Amino acid sequence: MSTTPSTTSTDRRRAARHAAAAALAIAAAWSRPGAAAVGGSEPAALSDAQVARISSLLIQDCGSCHGLRMTGGLGPALTPDTLRDKPRESLITTILQGRPGTPMPPWNPFLSPAEAGWIIDHLIEGQLP
Ligand code: HEC
Repeated sequence: MSTTPSTTSTDRRRAARHAAAAALAIAAAWSRPGAAAVGGSEPAALSDAQVARISSLLIQDCGSCHGLRMTGGLGPALTPDTLRDKPRESLITTILQGRPGTPMPPWNPFLSPAEAGWIIDHLIEGQLP
């Protein structure tokens, strides 16, 4: 029986390079001012500074209503179980525009669509900062 490990790992390296190129293209699209529409469904690539800023906003501001561990308070729980089946884009819209008539305020003065997408992706994965 013969194995061809060298071919396999070459293929894997090639696939990894393609994935990296795709990620860069997505990052470039997201970082272009005004290019990030609420309709975008690609995961956002954010700078370390953006991640640091919105991580503390998520815990301190969102957490003040949704609970420090997002298990609910004045606002509903934002846990993987409660969010998983809801459309990602409508959750992003809720963050950016708020829910009129409820205490959920609009965050678009403070968050870009890419940043709101980052928050939703991390909440759905249960990855709190
Ligand atoms: C002043 C309190 C308050 C703050 C601060 C707040 N929220 Fe909310 N949020 C609410 C309430 C209340 C609701 C439920 C609105 C409704 O009844 O539809 C809600 C709903 C949501 C929903 C929809 C949940 C679902 O299951 O559909 C998301 C997502 C959300 N908030 C995210 C955030 C994020 C992210 C932040 C911080 C950037 C934040 N909220 C800050 C009060 C708040």
